[in-house]
Amino acid sequence: MSKFEIQGPAKLTGEISVLGAKNSALKLIAATVLIKDKVVLENVPDILDINILIDILKKNGAEIVRTGHTLNIDTTNLTSADPDETLVEKFRGSIVLAGPYLARFGKINIPQPGGCAIGARPIDDHLNGFRQLGTDIVKNGCIYEYKREKNEGAQIEIRPSVTATENMIMTQVLAKGLTTINNVAREPQIADLANFLNQAGAKISGAGTSTITIEGVEELKGLTYKVMPDPFEACTFICLAAATNTQIKIKDCEPNHLYPFLDKLKEIGVDFEIGSDYVKINDASHLKAIDITTGVFPEFSTDMQAQTGVVLTQAQGTSHINETLFENRLGYLNELENMGAKIKMINAHEANIYGPTKLVGAQIKSLDLRAGATMILAGLIAEGETTIDHIEIIDRGYEKIEERLAQLGANIKRIS
Ligand code: EPU
Repeated sequence: MSKFEIQGPAKLTGEISVLGAKNSALKLIAATVLIKDKVVLENVPDILDINILIDILKKNGAEIVRTGHTLNIDTTNLTSADPDETLVEKFRGSIVLAGPYLARFGKINIPQPGGCAIGARPIDDHLNGFRQLGTDIVKNGCIYEYKREKNEGAQIEIRPSVTATENMIMTQVLAKGLTTINNVAREPQIADLANFLNQAGAKISGAGTSTITIEGVEELKGLTYKVMPDPFEACTFICLAAATNTQIKIKDCEPNHLYPFLDKLKEIGVDFEIGSDYVKINDASHLKAIDITTGVFPEFSTDMQAQTGVVLTQAQGTSHINETLFENRLGYLNELENMGAKIKMINAHEANIYGPTKLVGAQIKSLDLRAGATMILAGLIAEGETTIDHIEIIDRGYEKIEERLAQLGANIKRIS
């Protein structure tokens, strides 16, 4: 296992680019299963979760070549063999193979996927949606065996789970007739998936609202498409600039995808400017405590909660965090406590942060992807040396983060 060694406090300056969104790229790659033609995907980050998904598809016959951040994908010769169990179990996002495989082959057998230990991560919303679409599902040991009984439009209602919404869309783009999916998730990456599929010839409307309508088409055609910028990576860098009070410009992002996070940042007292594709932090010297409650989009994102939490250790007063989506996403606060932060855990979902506190370097753990990135921010504001263990979890979603932060002046080393 590798670790990061960070010497703080960092004196940062300059600009940093945001790469393509992990949680969009994963679904677009899975969606290429629906397209028996050549697809060029641009702005695909070179990160662990995506590379595992690529390996799963290649093992089953897809041709995928990476050149930098561009993937050339051709799934024409993909076979109906089940995706590799061991690889599927490595990350939760692999659940999005179920929809495209059902649409293309009418069946798929896959285990419950793995991923970050941020809570129970049930898949009942997926199972419930697939069943409403006419899929027979049997659990055989650890493997779920999905078999499509009919390939027709339907009117269904789900709960607003991101990946369940994406699975339902991908299952239905090639189904005969009209599908209406009610109560879907509205995150920007869902609109990115719908845009991608529509440019390939699908007829999807309503992505970004609570009801999605799909008019089934017979086939999809190859295309070139650029993955949207990662809002969670943008948030991570913005919080880095705010926590260290440095004037960093966060480039190549989509500020419209960063609400209500940017509203909260303003409430904390951070002065920043917004351009069409950047956010620049001007001053973060007078930070005030705030309350955050996470929720499904357009509420405050759970994937921005931990990074904002580290900023709040530097804010005057008592901040309150209520993490409503996942039960294990406040664990990072214990690590911050080891660095000198003043925290009161109220229960598994709620905590108070009392600030401002000076953080000091310590040996800390990366608990999940976003918490891991948050530990880097903490290490960069702390006095002295911070060591972060188990950084493979950060590599799941952030490409070469230490090299990119070093360009801003961070003293951070990967020890393998
Ligand atoms: N839920 C259920 N049953 C289900 C699915 C979800 O009860 O079948 C619950 C979850 O336990 C959670 C809530 O519904 O309380 C929302 O979960 P959601 O299904 O929306 O999450 P997800 O689709 O599994 C995606 C992202 C996560 C991100 C969440 C929330 C991907 C691959 N993952 O997960 O990203 O936190 O949406 O926005 O898109 C990450 O990038 O590190 C990450 C964890």
